[in-house]
Amino acid sequence: MSQPTIESILQEERLFPPTAEFSAQARIKSLEEYKSLYDRAKADPLKFWSELAEQELHWFQKWDTVLDWSNPPFAKWFVNGKINLSYNCLDRHLDSDRRNKPAIVWEGEPGDSKTLTYAELHQEVCKFANVLKSLGVKKGDGVGIYMPMVPEAAIAMLACARIGAPHSVVFGGFSAEALRDRLVDAEVKVVVTADGGWRKDAIVPLKPQVDKALAEGTTSVEKVVVVKRTAQDIAMSDRDLWWHDLIQDASADCPAEPMDSEDMLFILYTSGSTGKPKGVVHTTGGYNLYAHMTAQWIFDLQENDVYWCTADVGWITGHSYVVYGPLSNGATTVMYEGAPRASNPGCFWDVIEKHKVSIFYTAPTAIRAFIKMGDDHPNSRDLSSLRLLGTVGEPINPEAWMWYHTIIGKEKCPIVDTWWQTETGGIMITALPGAIPTKPGSATLPFPGILADIVDLDGNSAGVNEGGYLAVRYPWPGMMRTVYKDPDRFRKTYWEHIPPQDGQYIYFAGDGARRDEDGYFWVMGRVDDVINVAGHRLGTMEVESALVSHPAVAEAAVVGKPDEIKGQDIVAFVTLEGTYQPSEDLAKELKKHVVGEIGAIARPGEIRFADALPKTRSGKIMRRLLRDLAAGVEISGDTSTLEDRSVLEKLREGA
Ligand code: WTA
Repeated sequence: MSQPTIESILQEERLFPPTAEFSAQARIKSLEEYKSLYDRAKADPLKFWSELAEQELHWFQKWDTVLDWSNPPFAKWFVNGKINLSYNCLDRHLDSDRRNKPAIVWEGEPGDSKTLTYAELHQEVCKFANVLKSLGVKKGDGVGIYMPMVPEAAIAMLACARIGAPHSVVFGGFSAEALRDRLVDAEVKVVVTADGGWRKDAIVPLKPQVDKALAEGTTSVEKVVVVKRTAQDIAMSDRDLWWHDLIQDASADCPAEPMDSEDMLFILYTSGSTGKPKGVVHTTGGYNLYAHMTAQWIFDLQENDVYWCTADVGWITGHSYVVYGPLSNGATTVMYEGAPRASNPGCFWDVIEKHKVSIFYTAPTAIRAFIKMGDDHPNSRDLSSLRLLGTVGEPINPEAWMWYHTIIGKEKCPIVDTWWQTETGGIMITALPGAIPTKPGSATLPFPGILADIVDLDGNSAGVNEGGYLAVRYPWPGMMRTVYKDPDRFRKTYWEHIPPQDGQYIYFAGDGARRDEDGYFWVMGRVDDVINVAGHRLGTMEVESALVSHPAVAEAAVVGKPDEIKGQDIVAFVTLEGTYQPSEDLAKELKKHVVGEIGAIARPGEIRFADALPKTRSGKIMRRLLRDLAAGVEISGDTSTLEDRSVLEKLREGA
C-alpha cells in the first residue's frame, strides 16, 4: 500500500451557500441544524439510528438490540427486528394519495415511455414475486438480474426483496464471462434478463450472453426469465421462459415476507485490487434505513418532486438511489434506458424537460461528455423544473462543477457531491443541500452518524490539509456485512490496513483524501490498484488477467492515465510470447479480447508493447512508475528498488 499518489494541488476558495429560498423549504435548513444533528448522532449513534428506524420504517417486529458489534468487523443492526424492504417501498404507500402517484416514470432510449403508479408497481411486483415462487425460488435462493434499464429490472429486484430471495444484479455491459463468474459465485437459481436493451442506438444482446455464460459448464441456474424488449430473434430453450407469458396468470396477491433484519438482501460484485471481484453483501434492515434516510435528507425529497438518478441498476447507485431509497420515501423516480451519445446530444435535457425533473443526480463523466457536446443543447431546453443537482462516482473537477452549476443549475440549484462506495450501501460524505455551503470539488461534510476521518496507517487523525486515508471510525447501518463466502477477505481488505486501535475497528475505504480548515473532505482518488473509468471501478488485476489469457501475451500490467471525459483511461503494458511481434493489429485484437472477457467498460484505451516490465527485486511490478509513464510525466518517487534500471529506459524510449 503506497501513500496517496494523487496530490491535490488546487486550493479551491469559492463557497456557494444555498439560496435562502432553498433553505427555507428544505428538510434540514441550516448549518446549525446540520451540526446539531451531527453532534447528537455522534454522542449517541444508537439512539440516533433507532429513533429514525422507528419513525421512518415499518417493522413487523421491533428489534431488541440496535447494534451488535461484539464480533467486529462483523456488525449486526436491529437484531431480531422483522422487516421487508419491498413492503416499505410499496405497501405502506397504498393507504394514502400516494397510491395513485407515479412511482416509476420510465423513458426508453428510442423514445417510448411508461409510468407505473405505486398501486400498479405494487401489483406488478406481487405478480412477479409469485412467478419466482412458481419457479421454485424460496427465501434465501439467489436470483441473477442481467437487464437493461427497463421497469422490469426494478420490479424483479423488489419481487426478490418481497420473498426474501437475495438478488445479484449484473450490469448489462458485462460480458458472458464476467456474468458467468458472478452467477456461479452467487449460486443463482433463476436469471432474469431481456432479449436485449437499447444503448447508443444499438441493441445490446443480453439473452445471447446469458446463453453463452451458461453454456460453459454446469451452474446452479435452473430457469431463465426473458423480458421482450428489443424483439430481435433469440434462441429459447426449455430452460427459458418469457416474462409476459409467466406474468399473465400470476396472482397479484403476495404478502411481503417478514425478513430478519440481518437476512441477506443482495450481493453486488465490485472490483478490488487483487483477485476476482468481491461479492459485497448487504442485509435488510440497516440497508433499508440507510438508503431511506440518505435519500430523504440529501435529495431533500418532498412530496411533489420528480427525482432522476441516471445510474444503471447494475451499480450500487442504481440500487440505493434509483430503486430503494426513493421508493422507500414514496418519491417519483425516473428510469432512463439511454446513455449520453453523440447522436442525441440533448437526451438528458429532453428527459428533464419532458418529465419536469426537479432533482437530478448523475456522474462527472456524463457531465464532462455533455460539456463537450456544447451548451446549445441544455440552453435550448426548459430546465426550470430543476431545484437540486447531485454527482457521484469520482471526484468532480471544479470546471465541470461550475458548468453544472451555471448551465444546468442556472446558479440556483445546490450541488450535492456525494462520496460513497458499493461497500457503504449509501452516501457517506456530502452536503445536505439546504444546510451546507458547497465548494467545487469537495464532497463537504459527513452525513449525521458517520464518523469519517482522514488517518495514517496507525489510525492517527491527519492534520488540516494533510493527505491521508479516508476512514470511518464507527459502524453505520448501511455498511456491507461481509464478502460473500469470504469473510477473511472482508477483514483483510477493509479492517486490517489500519489495525484496530485500543479495540476500536476502523473502516478503510481505499481512497486518499484531505480535510481543509473548515473540515471539508477533498477526496483525491484510490490509493490501491483500482482504476476509476467513467465512474466505474475496475481492478487492474482483472484487466491484466484478461490480457494474459490471450495466447500472445506473456505479461501485462495495467494502469490508469488521466482522461478528459472518463476521468481515467486504461493503459496496458504488455510483453509478448516468443513468436509474436508487436503490431497495430495485435493491439486491436487485445483490446477486443478484453472486451470479450470483461465488457466494453474495460477496453484499454492504449496498449503499449514492451520487452520487459519494471519490477522490484522481489518481482513485484512497479505500477507507480508505469502510471507516470502512461501519463507522460516525469517519473517521480524512488526507483532504487528497481531490479533492472535499463527496463525503465527502454520503456521511456518506446513511448
Ligand atoms: C469513488 C460508487 C470522489 C471513490 C457510489 C470510491 C468518489 C469509489 C465519489 C466507489 C465522489 C465515488 N468523489 N470519489 N463524490 N463517489 N467515488 O463502489 O474512489 O462504484 O471509493 O460506488 O468511487 O465506487 P463504487
